[in-house]
Amino acid sequence: MSDQRTSAIVEKYGTDESATLSALQDLQEEHGYLPREALLDVSKRMEVPLSRVLSLATFFNAFSLKPKGKHHVNVCMGTACHVRGSQLILEKLERELGIKSGDTTPDRNFSLDAVRCVGCCGLAPVIMVGDTFHGKLSQAKVPGVLKKYGK
Ligand code: FES
Repeated sequence: MSDQRTSAIVEKYGTDESATLSALQDLQEEHGYLPREALLDVSKRMEVPLSRVLSLATFFNAFSLKPKGKHHVNVCMGTACHVRGSQLILEKLERELGIKSGDTTPDRNFSLDAVRCVGCCGLAPVIMVGDTFHGKLSQAKVPGVLKKYGK
């Protein structure tokens, strides 16, 4: 059973299969992730096979099937960051937050993901918290960054 927000989005696109991606983008924006019920609703009401909806939902990095935290932490694992220790930064974040990459803290305050180059290699190693870059990081600096976001 879908909620009203989901219904309004799905109804907007009718049964136009070519609009499936747009509907998923709207749902991601509305909910912050793609709830299972919303995917079922898209499939049923837009008359698109569930397998097709799921393949779109899992193919694009912009979509998430899990709820994200209030503060979304993306750790750049691109080449420049990798050679400057991004794996150690990720491991430190996992320890500090008590979650693994791809997960969200139980209080829904933080979610953590490893991503490709975020486009400011000169600041490597870099993480993004929401839209804010934090560069030239070390493991020792990680707690200070998290503290700014209420950790
Ligand atoms: S590799 Fe990390 S910002 Fe480019």
